[in-house]
Amino acid sequence: MEVKTSLLDNMIGVGDMVLLEPLSEDSFLENLQKRFDHNEIYTYIGSVVISMNPYRSLPIFTPDKVEEYRNRNFYELSPHIYALADEAYRSLRDQDKDQCILITGESGAGKTEASKLVMSYVAAVCGKGQEVNKVKEQLLQSNPVLEAFGNAKTVRNDNSSRFGKYMDIEFDFKGDPLGGVISNYLLEKSRVVKQPRGERNFHVFYQLLSGASDDTLRKLKLDRDFSKYNYLSLDSAAVNGLDDAANFRTVRNAMQIVGFMEDEVQSVLELVAAVLKLGNIEFKPESRCNGTDESRIKDKNDLKEMCELLGIEQSVLERAFSYRTVEAKMEKVSTTLNVAQAYYARDALAKNLYSRLFSWLVTRINESIKAQTKTRHKVMGVLDIYGFEIFEDGDNSFEQFIINYCNEKLQQIFIELTLREEQEEYVREGIEWTNIEYFNNAIICDLIENNQNGILAMLDEECLRPGTVTDETFLDKLNTVCAEHQHFESRLSKNSKFLTDHSLPHNCFRIQHYAGKVLYRVEGFVDKNNDLLYRDLSQAMYKANHSLIKQLFPEGNPAKVNLKRPPTAGFQFRASVGTLMKNLQTKNPNYIRCIKPNDKKASHIFTDSLVRHQVRYLGLMENVRVRRAGYAFRQAYEPCLERYKMLCKRTWPHWRGPAREGVEVLMTDLQVPAEEFSYGRSKIFIRNPRTLFFLEERRRQCLEDLATLIQKIYRGWKCRTQFLLLKKSQVTVAAWYRRYAQQKKYKRIKSATTVVQSYTRGWQARKLLRELKYQKRCEEAVTTIAAFWHGTQARRELRRLKEEARRKHAVAVIWAYWQGLKVRREYRKFFRANAGKKIYDFTIQRIIQKYFLNLKSTMPSMSPIDKNWPTRPYLFLDGVHTDLRRIFHLWRCKKYRSQFTEEKKAVYEEKLEASEIFKDKKALYPSSVSQPFKGDYLEISKNPKYQKLNSAVDEKVLLADVVNKINRANGKGTARIFLLTKKSVVLADQKTGQVKASVPLPDLSSVSVSTQTDGFFALRLKEGSASAVKGDFLLSSEHLIEIITKLHRVGATTADMEQLNVDISDEFLVQFKQDKVCVKFIQGVPKNGNSVSCKRKNNRLLEVSVPTTP
Ligand SMILES: Nc1ncnc2c1ncn2[C@@H]1O[C@H](COP(=O)(O)OP(=O)(O)OP(=O)(O)O)[C@@H](O)[C@H]1O
Ligand SMILES: [Mg+2]
Repeated sequence: MEVKTSLLDNMIGVGDMVLLEPLSEDSFLENLQKRFDHNEIYTYIGSVVISMNPYRSLPIFTPDKVEEYRNRNFYELSPHIYALADEAYRSLRDQDKDQCILITGESGAGKTEASKLVMSYVAAVCGKGQEVNKVKEQLLQSNPVLEAFGNAKTVRNDNSSRFGKYMDIEFDFKGDPLGGVISNYLLEKSRVVKQPRGERNFHVFYQLLSGASDDTLRKLKLDRDFSKYNYLSLDSAAVNGLDDAANFRTVRNAMQIVGFMEDEVQSVLELVAAVLKLGNIEFKPESRCNGTDESRIKDKNDLKEMCELLGIEQSVLERAFSYRTVEAKMEKVSTTLNVAQAYYARDALAKNLYSRLFSWLVTRINESIKAQTKTRHKVMGVLDIYGFEIFEDGDNSFEQFIINYCNEKLQQIFIELTLREEQEEYVREGIEWTNIEYFNNAIICDLIENNQNGILAMLDEECLRPGTVTDETFLDKLNTVCAEHQHFESRLSKNSKFLTDHSLPHNCFRIQHYAGKVLYRVEGFVDKNNDLLYRDLSQAMYKANHSLIKQLFPEGNPAKVNLKRPPTAGFQFRASVGTLMKNLQTKNPNYIRCIKPNDKKASHIFTDSLVRHQVRYLGLMENVRVRRAGYAFRQAYEPCLERYKMLCKRTWPHWRGPAREGVEVLMTDLQVPAEEFSYGRSKIFIRNPRTLFFLEERRRQCLEDLATLIQKIYRGWKCRTQFLLLKKSQVTVAAWYRRYAQQKKYKRIKSATTVVQSYTRGWQARKLLRELKYQKRCEEAVTTIAAFWHGTQARRELRRLKEEARRKHAVAVIWAYWQGLKVRREYRKFFRANAGKKIYDFTIQRIIQKYFLNLKSTMPSMSPIDKNWPTRPYLFLDGVHTDLRRIFHLWRCKKYRSQFTEEKKAVYEEKLEASEIFKDKKALYPSSVSQPFKGDYLEISKNPKYQKLNSAVDEKVLLADVVNKINRANGKGTARIFLLTKKSVVLADQKTGQVKASVPLPDLSSVSVSTQTDGFFALRLKEGSASAVKGDFLLSSEHLIEIITKLHRVGATTADMEQLNVDISDEFLVQFKQDKVCVKFIQGVPKNGNSVSCKRKNNRLLEVSVPTTP
C-alpha cells in the first residue's frame, strides 16, 4: 500500500512560511533559525524555496534523495530544492510549459551551488542513453570551465561568480536534454587588473600557474611563482580548501568533454598568459623637448615575450602604448600618452582581452552544447545571477549599480509573476479575488532605466557629450534630473532634504532600492561606462598572428574602421537585461531565494541581523503576505480528503463519491466556519493557517486514536490468532490422542476377537475333524468289512474256481493220459524201437549246421586285436565255441604276421623282447608299447655335428640318444650322447661330441632299473674288467625300455657274449669308483615340477622320487 506523506509530517518549525502563525519578521526568522539549526536548510513560501547556505556538505543530495523526490508532489515531502526541480521538470515534460528557475540571493548565499543542484537533479531524472548522456555531461561540464574563468575568491565567497549566467537547457518532447544555450552578463573585468584587499583574481590564473606542467609553462613563457605577476594579488593567493592544481586538471578535462580542440585550449592559455605578461609591463616617464610628458616601457622583456606569445610585432604594440590616434571627420590626430594614460591603456587592454576571451569561451561552449535538431524544444532556464551587493562603507561603484539594477528587475519580475500566478490560480479555480496592495519596485527600475531621465540614460548622455566629461559632471546632471525622484538621494541635489545628511558624501548618490538604500560613489562611472579601448591597441591586436586574438578584436580591422562609438557598457547591460526579462516572462517561474546565514563562511552560525537584512531586501515577508492575502493554504481535493478523511465518520475509512463532496462533508462535519475556506474547482483554499493547524491537530489526535484502535485491533487479532492457533493445536492434539487411544483399544479388541475367533474356529474345526474322522473311520470300516466280505467271497469263489479248474485239469490230464495211453497202445505196433535216437541225431545235426552258418555270417574282423566273438547259442556247444575262437585268432595272427617285412619283424621282435623283459615288472613299460623303437634319435651319421663322433665309432650304431649321466655328488644329471654298437657302449659330450667313455659290451655285467615309471638305469661293469676302473654308470633316459631291450638283444645275438642281466628292483647298488652307493626309488611328489628328482641323501644313498603310479 502506498503511504501518502505530506510536508506537514514531522515538520520542524513550519515547512511553509505561509503557515506561520503569528506572522511577523521575528517569527519568520525564528522559524528559519529553528529549521537551520536542525539542518533543514530549505523552507517554502508557497512554491518559492528559501535556501540557507549550510556551509558544509549535508547528506541530502544523495542519489537516494533524488529517487525519493522523483515524481512526487511538491508538498508531499519536506521542503527540498529537488522538489522544486522535480516540479519544474515535470511540468515542462508533461504540461509542455517552458520553465525558468530564478536563483537570487547575495554573494555567497549559494546560488551557484543551487543552480548546479538543479541541473544535476534534472540530469539524474531525465532520460538516459549514449547521446543523451553525452549532452548531459557537456552541459554539466560547462560549469567548471566558466567557473575557472568567471569566478574568483572575494571576501564574501571563495568561489564568487563574477558574471551573471543564464542557461537555457533544451529538452525534446520526451524530456530528454538536447542541448543548451548560455548567456553571460557583465563580467567584472576590473578584477583582472586590480583586486580588493583579501580577494583574488579569477581562478584560472592561479590554476594555470599551479597546475600546468613545466613544459606548458615554458611554452607559455610563464613562471610558477605568483609573486612574479603584478596582476595577481598575493595576500590571499592560497585559499583554504581550494586545490588550484587539481582544479586546473578538472578544467582541462571539462574543456575536452565540452569539445574544445587541443589548439583552442592552447590559444586560450596563451591569452591568459598574455594577460599576466601584460600586467608586468611597466612605464616610466620621459620628458620631451616640447615640454610634454611621454611614457617609455621600462623593461621590454615582458612585452617581447607577450608579443611572441600572441604573434604581435613588438614595435606595433610598443607604439600603441605610446600614442593615441584620434580620428574625427577624416582627420587623424596622434597624441602621445603620458605614464598614467599608458597604464590606463595597458589595463584597458588586459581587461578587454580577458572579458572578450570570456565571451568567446561562452560562445564556443554554446557552439558545442547547442541542440542538434531543429524540432521545437521545451526550455528550462536557470538563472544564476549575482545577488544584491551593498558595500557598507559606501564603496559601491558602477558594477554594484549595474548588479543592483539587475536585481531590481528580477524583483519586479518576481512580484509580477508571483502575483500574477496567484491571481491566475484564483481565477482558474473560480475563487472570488480582491486585489492586494504590495510594493511595486517599478518606480526604482524606472529611475534607473528610463530612456529620458533614467540614470543610465544620463550616464550615456554624459559619456557621449562633447567637452569635458567627468564623474562629477555626471553627478551634477543626476542632481538636476533626478532630484525629485523619491528613491534618489544626493547631497548636492536640489532636494533640500539631504543637504545636511552627513552620511551622504558629496561625490556619491544614494538609491533607495527595494532591498535597502545603497550609496554609490560616482568615481569611475563614466570611464567604466565608456569602456574605452584605444583604437591603436585594438588595431595592434588585430594585426596579431594569432587567430583567436584576431577574432576577439574585429574592430581593429583597418578595412572596417567604424567611427561610431561602441555602445556603452550601461547601454549593453540594459539591453541584455531587457532581453532576459522578456525571455523570463514567457516562462513559468520557479524561485530559489538563497540566504547566507553568516559572514564567516561558517556552518552552524546564524547571524540574526544578517539574515534579517536579507529577508527584508529579498522581500520574503511581502512574499508571504501576498501569498496569505488570499488563502494561506490550498490543496487538491483528493490529497486533502486522503489526509483528513479520518476526522469524519462519513468519510472514514472510504469515501465512495467525488473527492470534492467528501471534502465538503468533512468540512461541514468538522464545523469549520464557512469564511475560513473556499471551494475551488480542483482545490480547497484555506484562508487562515489556524484552520489548517486545527485540521492538523485534529488529525494528529485522530491518528493517535487510530493508532490505539489499530493497536487494539492488532492486539485483539494477535490474541485471537494465538487463541485460535492454540485451539487448533489442542483439537489436533486431542484428535491425535483420541485416534491413538481408539486405535489402541481397537487393536486390543481386534486381537481379543482374533483369539476368541481362533479358539472358536479351533473348537469348531476340531469338532468337524472329529466328525469327519468318525465318518471316515465308519467309511473305512465299511470298506474294510466290505473288502473282507468281498475278499472272503472272492477267495471262496477262487477256491471254488481253482477247485473246478484243478478238477478240469485233472480230468484233462487224466483224459490226455488216457488218450495217450490209448494212442500209444494203438500206434505202438507202427514204430521201430530206435526211432527216438535218429530223431535225436537229426535234431542235433540240424542245430550244429545252423550254428556254423550263423557263425559264418557273424565272423569278427581280421585284426588280431579285435576281441569280438559271437555268443554261443546252446550250452552244449561251449567247448567247441571256445576252440573255434582260439583257432580263428591264431589263424588271423598268422595271416597278419605273414605281411611283415624283415625290419618290421625285427622291430616287433625287439618289442616282443621288451615285453618279455619288462611286462608287469616295470611301471614305465606300458607307456613304451605304443612308441616305435627308432634307434638313432640323433641321426648321427647325417648330422655333421656328430661327424667326428661317428668316425670314432667304427661299428654300426644301433642306438644313439641323449641320456643324463647322474652325478653321484648331487644327484643332478649331465647330458651325454649314448651310443650303442654291436660291440660297445659309448658316452660322449653332447656339445662337442667328444668321447667320454667307451665300454665294450663284454665288460657289462648287468643293468639295474627300478620298477617305477622313471628312466634311471645303472650299467654295471664286471669287476676286474678294464672299464670297471671308473665305476658303474648311473644314467637316465626317456627311451630306457628301448635302450635296455637293445642292450639285451645285442647280448643275445652276439655269439661271444653272455646275455646281459636285467635287474628290476627299487633298490640297487652302483659302484662309483671305490664306493658303492645305494640308489633307492621311492614314490613321492618330486619338487620343482620335475617328474623325477634324484637327491643325494648321504654318501651312500641316492634317493630318486618318482611320481606315484596311478
Ligand atoms: N547546498 C550547499 N551545501 C553545501 N555548501 C554550500 C551549499 N550552497 C553553498 N554552499 C557553500 O557556499 C559557498 C558559496 O556558494 P555559491 O558560490 O553558490 O554562492 P553564490 O550565491 O553563487 O555567490 P556569488 O554570488 O558570489 O557567486 C560554496 O562554495 C559552498 O562552499
Ligand atoms: Mg555564484
